[in-house]
Amino acid sequence: MTNPYLAPRLPDELPSDPMHWAEAWIEAAAEQRVTRNPNSMTIVTVGDNAVPSARIVLCKSFIADPGYLVFYTNYKSNKVRELLQNPNVAVVFHWDTLGRQIRIEGQAVRSPANESDEYFASRDCGSQIGAWGSDQSAPLESREALIAQVAERALKFGVDVAHNRDLTVARDQPAIPRPPHWGGVRVWASHVELWLEGTDRIHDRARWERSLSKNDDDTFTVGAWTGTRLQP
Ligand SMILES: Cc1cc2nc3c(=O)[nH]c(=O)nc-3n(C[C@H](O)[C@H](O)[C@H](O)COP(=O)(O)O)c2cc1C
Repeated sequence: MTNPYLAPRLPDELPSDPMHWAEAWIEAAAEQRVTRNPNSMTIVTVGDNAVPSARIVLCKSFIADPGYLVFYTNYKSNKVRELLQNPNVAVVFHWDTLGRQIRIEGQAVRSPANESDEYFASRDCGSQIGAWGSDQSAPLESREALIAQVAERALKFGVDVAHNRDLTVARDQPAIPRPPHWGGVRVWASHVELWLEGTDRIHDRARWERSLSKNDDDTFTVGAWTGTRLQP
């Protein structure tokens, strides 16, 4: 049976909730391994200086209901400094071979600590050391200085990265804890646009919006989606 979410056109009557479509597109890109990092997305932040700044991150989970995605990063990085100044962010996924684009705008908040702990614990030792080793977005004197910094910090956890980055993990080494400055960011969607490539530039395009109201625990109460078909 063909998956209706993966049809070459959006249905005549627009779906009432775009998030399950977006989720299906992201899953399809991953299953088909259309690129080396099919879950990569561009995220744009705008800090106090009102200047937009874009970079790629990896979408590590997509929760269609109630409607947010998660990426992981260093909380001292430029992107997090900016999204703490201004939580409004924009995200774009694009898979050229599938002729699909997803645009999401919304509000970014840090993930609950226990969720970040769980994800960090699931990562391999090298990635865990990498999270401790790099002060992301801070100036760096040289590549050598970074290598030395990573090796020095790794040793504190009983990990020797001195030899060609082969990790030698000390026996009886306790689990590496998550750095307090590293974790997840949830992007709660207030606007979603789905775009499907058509012939002769007659693409299929629709945009949905809903209200987001922030709760004390950094979750959001969400309104119903309303969708509008747009000229391409
Ligand atoms: C394919 C790819 C995947 C990336 N994934 C992440 C990621 O998941 N998290 C992250 O913090 N940076 C990731 N980066 C690096 C970012 O693009 C960026 O260089 C870094 O986060 C610093 O950005 P900032 O100074 O604007 O905060 C990735 C880069 C590429 C090219």
